[in-house]
Amino acid sequence: MRTGTKGQAIQRPKGMPDTVGADADAWRAVQQEAMAFLRRAGYQEMNTPILEHTELFHRGVGESTDIVNKEMFTFEKGDRSLTLRPEGTAGVVRAFIENGLHRWPKPVKLAYFGPMFRYERPQEGRQRQFHQLGCELFGQDTPEADAEVILLAVGLLEHLGVEGITLHINTVGEADDRQRFRDALKQQVAPYLDELCPDCQRRYGQNPLRMLDCKVPSCRAHYDGEAMSAFLAHFPWSQPSYGQYQQTLAILSACGVTYVENPRLVRGLDYYTRTVFEITGERLGAQNAVCGGGRYNQLVEGLGGPNTPAIGWAMGVERLHSLMPTREKTPPLFYIVHDDAPSAFALAQWLRQQPERLGWGGSASETAGKLMVECDLSGKPLGKQFQAADKRLATAVIIWGESERSAGQYRVKWLADGRHETATSQDELLAVLMTGESLPGNTRQ
Ligand code: HAM
Repeated sequence: MRTGTKGQAIQRPKGMPDTVGADADAWRAVQQEAMAFLRRAGYQEMNTPILEHTELFHRGVGESTDIVNKEMFTFEKGDRSLTLRPEGTAGVVRAFIENGLHRWPKPVKLAYFGPMFRYERPQEGRQRQFHQLGCELFGQDTPEADAEVILLAVGLLEHLGVEGITLHINTVGEADDRQRFRDALKQQVAPYLDELCPDCQRRYGQNPLRMLDCKVPSCRAHYDGEAMSAFLAHFPWSQPSYGQYQQTLAILSACGVTYVENPRLVRGLDYYTRTVFEITGERLGAQNAVCGGGRYNQLVEGLGGPNTPAIGWAMGVERLHSLMPTREKTPPLFYIVHDDAPSAFALAQWLRQQPERLGWGGSASETAGKLMVECDLSGKPLGKQFQAADKRLATAVIIWGESERSAGQYRVKWLADGRHETATSQDELLAVLMTGESLPGNTRQ
């Protein structure tokens, strides 16, 4: 273990950011708004542990995937191997089986939000700790279910004001289709295998589908070339999987959703069958997928549950956040300068409760209708407390000194223009703060 030098500052682990202040507020607002959106479509929140038994991901995500091979944070505890979850679906499926949710009326619709961990090389848009918002629909294997889940992802992005997105969609067929596809792809690639990058040569043996994802230009030249395009366009996927895919596309078109059929979209996890999709954001750069998902009809059974078809997606919340338009600013801060802590604290507490009492705090947005109220804690003279209010970028100061108390008055000073207002009751004070305007008969200086 590296111990460093005593007294030296300790840094956060690489690729695992801290969030603070306005960033943390904005972050929570996205979570609340997105979960509320999914709840309105009938999805119930599910929380699963951040740690799972390592075996879950080996069996769930797949032995041959990069995630399981290279990217998991795994450690031993006692005689068990545990792993920080690299994605949400495997844990949700485990919990679905373990809690008997397969006995609920179908479809069972679940949503989740939380941190995920992948040991990848950090870069713009790619972190080792990131967050996913996801939803999973169990028990229905229809084009309607596929379309609902995809429309939900597109609708949520629209609801959050995200523009410039593209929906990519493909089918990867049934499990035996995949085996046929793997074999045919290998045959297709075999003549130029020597020219491919070392990663693709490894994928050729372990996980050939992932070759199509390679970003190396010399490999791309082969995969994007005419021969590969013709091979992909004519691969004979079996029915009914292909029919389901076509019907899903028809529903999306009827709903006015544009998409790009992308036969090179294979996804990085092994559990997919039939329809798969990704949503990219044009402002995202190299790591441009904001959402990925698809159908996984064998996973519940593969993890020991009854045969249950399922489909879902997950969004990277950091990427989502960077695509969203700038949200409202933090709410105004009112700073109480005072020489009597008990009555000043009581006033602060009363003010903080009022917007909710009046029904102004119920908006989905985190800060709408809220008052931020702080009391000076320094015990210093009022003049010094004014300086502290300035430093905290307060919108206004509520002056609660000896003379105000004896006159039964609350004085407000707006710091931007030095304007003063006076209120003679707490309710009047609240009105002054909420409207930012003078009440009739108040003095201005
Ligand atoms: P995934 O494509 O691996 O799918 O991840 C979903 C999303 O998580 C990505 O589109 C991306 O936005 C975000 N993401 C992934 N890795 C990182 C990273 N290192 N840093 C930042 N963001 C990242 C899944 O995880 C599947 N479980 C989705 C699913 C749900 N399929 C069916 N149901």
